[in-house]
Amino acid sequence: MKKIMLTGIKPTGNLTLGNYIGVLKHLKDYQDEYESYIFIADLHALTLPIDPKILNQNTRDIVAFYLASGLDFNKSHIFLQSSVSEHAELNSIMINYLYMGELSRMTQFKEKSKNMNYSAIGLGLFAYPVLMASDIILYDADIVPVGEDQRQHVELTRDLVRRFNSRYNTDVLKEPKAIVNKTGKRIMSLSDPLKKMSKSDPKGDIYLKDDEKTIRKKIMSAVTDSDCKIIYDKENKPGISNLLTIYSSLKDISIEEAEKEFENANYGTFKRAVADAVVNELLPFQERYNQIINSNLINEALIKGRDAAKIKANAKLKEIQKVVGLYEIKQ
Ligand code: TYM
Repeated sequence: MKKIMLTGIKPTGNLTLGNYIGVLKHLKDYQDEYESYIFIADLHALTLPIDPKILNQNTRDIVAFYLASGLDFNKSHIFLQSSVSEHAELNSIMINYLYMGELSRMTQFKEKSKNMNYSAIGLGLFAYPVLMASDIILYDADIVPVGEDQRQHVELTRDLVRRFNSRYNTDVLKEPKAIVNKTGKRIMSLSDPLKKMSKSDPKGDIYLKDDEKTIRKKIMSAVTDSDCKIIYDKENKPGISNLLTIYSSLKDISIEEAEKEFENANYGTFKRAVADAVVNELLPFQERYNQIINSNLINEALIKGRDAAKIKANAKLKEIQKVVGLYEIKQ
């Protein structure tokens, strides 16, 4: 039997080069060897206020991006989290097995809520990792490819699995493993390389839909330093290190190889080479996206994905309901 891979992307904004290098680019490599469940975490997108129209558009976009990245919906199950109601149902069970203390220690929660008035923080934002754990548990996922920022949530899922299995003396839940790439696990902002590239920072982000001129402009004006050496040193040269990471990830070479290539280059030459690498990767990708975004492939993929995911998720939910003692009505 094939092992199971699962991951998701939240449709809260325009996808960035960080999403692409951290996860999206690699997903097609799993689809032959693993039974793959790849979804759009649309329920998670509601944890912070979002315009319904934008949520809708972002959702379509992510499906098109998945397909443009080389995922084949006849091999990988691509679906909407909200179209498989078992996610929400399992969430309402699992919410009882994670604790206020551990949820309040999650880095993402602390970051997202730090400028918010405590009494107005939505419960969904606080309980975000419970739904994410439910997403993973429902499919018996063996591996969960994510960027570094999501590793903590997968670790918490592992804690939950162990706690639940031990409480009920069962092995009904499978412990997932986060797969985080060595290079490219955390692409930083181009305008502030101490900050993660995230979906809401127009100056520091490269968006997957940016045109060539914008991409080149953003990379040429990326914040660096005045030392003129192209070496990887995250602490003292975060900007150059970030550009080296982007370059080596897109070229599929090691950081050392990239350093060697630019041993005698100046920052201008190096930045142009990084811009070329990004443009060469993203332009063909955008072409595929443009062919898909208004086609019927989006719906076709989502129907097929939903139907397959539902079968798997429903069987698991039933097993879990039985373990906790929820009564099954005999037909
Ligand atoms: P999201 O939508 O924030 O990000 C999608 C994926 O992209 C990775 N990522 C990055 N990788 C490298 N550098 C960056 N700057 C960067 N920014 C984002 C993220 O780590 C992520 O893997 N909670 C998830 C969605 C989710 C999920 C799940 C993922 C919901 N349920 C179950 C896996 C399994 C999220 O918000 O990702």
